[in-house]
Amino acid sequence: MKLKLKVKRGNDSEVRYDTFEVEVQEGMTFLRALQMIKEDVDPTLTFRQFCRAGICGTCAITINGFPKLSCREQVLPYAMMGEEVVLEPLDRFPVIRDLAVDSSQMITEMKKLRTWISGFSGDVRIPPELSKKIERSADCILCLACQSHCPQMLEEDYAGPLYFAKLYRFLEDPRDDEGLMRLKVAVEEGNLYHCLSCNKCNNVCPKEVEPATLIRELMTYTDIDGKGKE
Ligand code: FES
Repeated sequence: MKLKLKVKRGNDSEVRYDTFEVEVQEGMTFLRALQMIKEDVDPTLTFRQFCRAGICGTCAITINGFPKLSCREQVLPYAMMGEEVVLEPLDRFPVIRDLAVDSSQMITEMKKLRTWISGFSGDVRIPPELSKKIERSADCILCLACQSHCPQMLEEDYAGPLYFAKLYRFLEDPRDDEGLMRLKVAVEEGNLYHCLSCNKCNNVCPKEVEPATLIRELMTYTDIDGKGKE
């Protein structure tokens, strides 16, 4: 069985689509198909990969209009349909080349919202119930799938689901003492309340972090200048 791929090439100023055919192998992922094209057909084909195990988040691309981890998405169901599958870089990000996007904006936003634990010293016991609660947020692998599928990202100054999902963890984690300050930044500079609650980020997150659900939880922290959740 053959898999037909139509791959977006070039960058934001020069775009074309190239078509490739790959022989489907058992357990084959889209990342493997791209590797085979690069090895056997076109060594200039550019895409990102690292862990190949759904952990690092670097291999996310758009497959038939939906962001997916290419190292996890199996080609077989698509090949069985017999139709051409369109591979494109993630939406909402500048393209460096072919399927590789520039994610440096992510670093800037993460610095702005200070998405790391702050003020931690000594022993802190995290009860199992709380650990479970913050687990979802901590599972984010920064693959950018949610950011690329969020319609509100077209609005300038909306930080996006990735950052707000990360922020949730810092508000709940007892080892952190800057959560409320970050929430203030998220509301005032990241426009948290501009979330459309459309759940598109929930639907595409490969780790089931459910950013839109966490954003709705964040919105219940109404007393951002005071002592936290009411
Ligand atoms: Fe790491 Fe796909 S290569 S998540």
